[in-house]
Amino acid sequence: MDAFVINGGRPLRGRVRINGSKNAALPLMASALLTDDPITLRDVPDLADIRNMTRLLAELGCETAELDDPGLPDRPALELRTRHEIESHARYDLVRTMRASICVLGPLLARRGSARVSMPGGCAIGPRPVDLHLKGLEALGARITLDGGDIIATAPGGRLTGAPVFMGGAFGSTVLGTANIMSAASLARGTTIIEAAACEPEIVDLACLLGKMGAHIEGAGSPRIIVHGVERLTGADHTIIPDRIEAGTYMCAAAATQGDITITNCPLDALMAVTTTLHAIGVVVEPLEPLQGGIDPMRAAARITCPGPLTPVEITTQPHPGYPTDLQAQLMALLCRAGGISVITEKIFPDRFLHVPELARMGAQLYRRGSTVIVHGVDSLSGAPVMASDLRASASLVIAALAATGTTTINRVYHLDRGYERMEHRLAAMGASIERVAEEELAATA
Ligand code: EPU
Repeated sequence: MDAFVINGGRPLRGRVRINGSKNAALPLMASALLTDDPITLRDVPDLADIRNMTRLLAELGCETAELDDPGLPDRPALELRTRHEIESHARYDLVRTMRASICVLGPLLARRGSARVSMPGGCAIGPRPVDLHLKGLEALGARITLDGGDIIATAPGGRLTGAPVFMGGAFGSTVLGTANIMSAASLARGTTIIEAAACEPEIVDLACLLGKMGAHIEGAGSPRIIVHGVERLTGADHTIIPDRIEAGTYMCAAAATQGDITITNCPLDALMAVTTTLHAIGVVVEPLEPLQGGIDPMRAAARITCPGPLTPVEITTQPHPGYPTDLQAQLMALLCRAGGISVITEKIFPDRFLHVPELARMGAQLYRRGSTVIVHGVDSLSGAPVMASDLRASASLVIAALAATGTTTINRVYHLDRGYERMEHRLAAMGASIERVAEEELAATA
């Protein structure tokens, strides 16, 4: 296992280009199961989760090839093509490596009339049930049973039937649940109305690809999505939206180090809650060109600076367009150095606070009460050995370490590799002192 060794206290300066979104890419890749024709995806990030999804799709008869992409010379496009006479079983040993594997369920069931997908297990950030996915598919006529830890779903007569589907749960809507139902409904007989649909930009991107494949979808990005089912979907070519969470993470890192960076391919349009919060803290996020007049607000360039001391804020994570849970931990690392008291409430995954005890090891003053953490700003954080525990908690530790005095060792950075492509190279290129080492090497030198 690898660790990061970070010597903090250096302001980040330079440029970073945001990659295609991991959380958009996973359901987009799964949509290749809806057709026999090739799907070409561009700007696919080079991440462990994408490689896991490629492996899972290969087991399900979907082969992936890398193609040159003249638009992005350093990044091949992925071509996905499915042969349907093969396995419809997503096995536990693949699903357990990545919860998002559940997004093959809707496409498999819709295209093949049956699917067997291992039930995803627990997760470091909370229980993460899939009841809303299953209820939604049942509303479309699927028969669902559980056998040996697998979800077995069949569509009577081989095809799902459009219907009203309510996707609201105790914590709001579900992103991958909405993706599953929208994909499945695209090939169903008749019309589906998805009420309380997730409004996340990744759902809009999926609707965009499905539309290119011939699906008839209205309202993606709003809480009511209407899908008119079609007989067949075809191949398509699609460039994935940039990753709003990666962009927000680099914004927090720049602010925490009092740096001055430019972020390109930045989805500012999907980050309004984040940039408004950063503004309240004293961080300047300045679009480099006016967002009107031909500039795509999902692919903008922005300069991030932090001219003065940080101001504390109170935030609550919410479904999009609210402040995203996937940037809660990173903001907490930033607020550790805001003079005064900040309050962070987590409404999507109430236990998503694995970073709290690790930040405390670096001198942060954090007090957790249920799903709320009170942050008492401190003058400085100090480097320490800490443990990465999940993807976004790991990013928060990197931000804290970049801002801290002294050396921090972050163990188990494989969590980070699931969602941030070559983060250490990108930070080093902006002046950070960061090195990837094997944990065994550290032990030998201790
Ligand atoms: N929920 C249910 N029942 C369900 C599904 C969800 O109760 O059937 C609850 C969850 O327990 C949670 C809430 O609904 O409290 C929202 O969960 P959601 O289903 O929206 O999460 P997800 O679709 O499984 C995606 C992202 C997560 C991100 C969440 C929320 C992907 C691959 N994952 O997960 O990303 O936190 O939406 O925005 O798209 C990450 O990237 O670090 C990450 C965890």
